[in-house]
This record gives sequence, C-alpha cells and structure tokens, in this order.
Amino acid sequence: MLDTTVSTLLNEQIMKELYSAYLYLDIANFYSDKGLEGFENWFFIQAQEERDHAMLIRQYLLNNDEVIKLLPIAAPEETYENFGMPLDVTLAHEKTVTASINNIYAAAYEIKDFRTMEFLNWFVKEQGEEEKNASDLITKFALFGSDAKALYELDQELKTRVYAPPSLILD
Ligand code: FEO
Repeated sequence: MLDTTVSTLLNEQIMKELYSAYLYLDIANFYSDKGLEGFENWFFIQAQEERDHAMLIRQYLLNNDEVIKLLPIAAPEETYENFGMPLDVTLAHEKTVTASINNIYAAAYEIKDFRTMEFLNWFVKEQGEEEKNASDLITKFALFGSDAKALYELDQELKTRVYAPPSLILD
C-alpha cells in the first residue's frame, strides 16, 4: 500500500495523462481537418504516448495493492485560429503536467516514499523531453510556418515520426 496522499495524486495523474491524450487527439483532428497529415501523425502518436503514461501509473498503483478510481475526463475546449496555436497550447500544457508530476514527487519525498520517487524519476525525465519536443516544434514552425513550401517539408518530416512503446516497463 502507498500513503493516501501519494496514492490519490497518482490516481488523479491517470486522469491528467488521459486528458493529455484527449487534448492531443483533438489537435491531431484539427490538423487532419486542415490537411497537414504530418502534424496529425505527430500528435496522434503523442496521444498514444500519453495513454501509455496513464497505463504505467495504473500498473504501479495495482502493483502496490491500491484500488483505482477512474475520474471523469474533460473534453478539450481549445479552439485554434492558426496552425501555430496548438503548438503553444502543447508547451503550456506540458508545463502543467511537469508541475503535477513534481507535486507528486514532492509528496513522496515528504514521507520518504523512495519507491514512488524511483518510479517517478522516469516521468521527470520524460517531461523534460516532452517540453523540449514542444519547444522545438514551436521554433521550427516560427522558422518555416509562413512559407507554404517549407511548411510542406516540415509536415513531411513530422510524418516520419513512429510510435515507440515507453522505455519503462512494469510487470
Ligand atoms: Fe504524459 Fe505529456 O505528459
């Protein structure tokens, strides 16, 4: 069993990761509608990764004899007026997820729950990568987004992203 606060926060994090999947699926749908299939692909894979994050936390809770209570997932409410807006939304969202992971880490640290801290180390690193990926996309879009041919080539580049399962494996 885990400490109640840590367990509750991890349970909520499952919902937050699934909301992230929902948000990125919504963004993939936006780009699909606009004909940018590479952007669509990138965000569709991102949505898959977010679901993986939720499943890892689920498994960790189960491995520690915790009862999981699935919480409601809100519908994404964002509207996008240009191709760049979803990228800014993504970076801002990842920063909130980082804060949420850090908050759970702090709760585990407080009570010397070293097992949960060890588990969360993977997520701490992952958040660093996700913020960087979003930031890199913003940079590339700022460089190439206003030129049709360059945007086409960036879209082609994003089409090459392939799904990879998470490097963290829980039995
Ligand atoms: Fe699972 Fe993008 O945070």
